[in-house]
Amino acid sequence: MIIEHPSRADLLQAAQSLKAGKLVAFPTETVYGLGADAENDHAVELVFEKKGRPNDHPLIVHIADMHTAEHFACNIPPFANVLMKQFWPGALTLILQRQPGIANASSGHQSTIGLRIPSHPMALELLEIAKSLGVFGIAAPSANRFGRVSPTQAVHVVEELGEGLLILNGGASHIGIESTIIDCSRGQPILLRPGQLSTESLEQVLHQSIAQELIDETPDNSSPTALKAIAPKVSGRLLAHYAPQAKVLLLDCQALEQRLSSYMPQPKAFIGVWSASPLVLDSKTFLYQAMPKRAEVCAQVLFSTLRAFDKAGVQEIWIEQPPFAPDWLGVNDRLKRASHAQ
Ligand code: TXA
Ligand code: MG
Repeated sequence: MIIEHPSRADLLQAAQSLKAGKLVAFPTETVYGLGADAENDHAVELVFEKKGRPNDHPLIVHIADMHTAEHFACNIPPFANVLMKQFWPGALTLILQRQPGIANASSGHQSTIGLRIPSHPMALELLEIAKSLGVFGIAAPSANRFGRVSPTQAVHVVEELGEGLLILNGGASHIGIESTIIDCSRGQPILLRPGQLSTESLEQVLHQSIAQELIDETPDNSSPTALKAIAPKVSGRLLAHYAPQAKVLLLDCQALEQRLSSYMPQPKAFIGVWSASPLVLDSKTFLYQAMPKRAEVCAQVLFSTLRAFDKAGVQEIWIEQPPFAPDWLGVNDRLKRASHAQ
């Protein structure tokens, strides 16, 4: 059930539901989250069940303020404090050492915990009210079925998880892709998942470089190096992720043009094309969408565009590869994974 324009009373009710061990879907500036009381292992189990996600994949715990970080995390290194002060509230998740015994199920029973203060005003208000009821953190993965496209609107959550769920409508998520994840638990900052916040902007604030570990994991991949051997599990790093129903082909501009020009129309073929280059195509066979030229705008519409192609019933989505530039890292990461799903 979608609550339109939730009032403070609605948010209080939502927080009470969380306190009672129920699930609530809520908006953040990145994507919608499927929330549970982070310290209620039973409620967190329901999140894993609802998503169909393996329960050793840890969830991000959303908190209301920096002070609360110490409730969940310990031995917070100075560089992590710098990142918190500069970028929270915002689209940055920090992986920190976990306070022993806290939020066992949320953390997937790992020794670390992912924390973030979102900047969406409705999320912040919900977190603040929940905290006043004794819910110190809301564990929330993206509110989609495991491996599928993340929801950036309340209706997407219904499409993914059905009607039975309490969903707070806070409008379209304005960033559109998930938060940047920095692992701060291994002595140096390590980028695990790129988002809208660029590595450069983080490095500028830290005055140190950030290692990257965006390995193309498959679920049964074993980690060859010592660093990787203790690397936490991050389901967003699985190579096949963020997948629409249609098969996604990621093609550079030339390959896309060639494919289009040599294409022999098949009966009943219907193909989505998302490209920054303007194209005039036969609308019986092709559904063309213009790809925004700025990375930020492209991220905003990325998941809803994939969803719209699915809804239109295309069998394949041909996507022009965006530039390999630092500001496109988050978008390119999601596109690569979407195209590896089938
Ligand atoms: O923008 C976002 O981060 C959204 C909104 C709802 O906040 N959430 C999100 O959650 O993307 P999810 O579960 O779809 O992705 C969270 C990622 C997963 O890949 C998970 O494995 C990783 O964060 N993660 C969470 N806790 C972790 C930990 N202790 N160690 C390593 N990775 C962790
Ligand atoms: Mg997700």
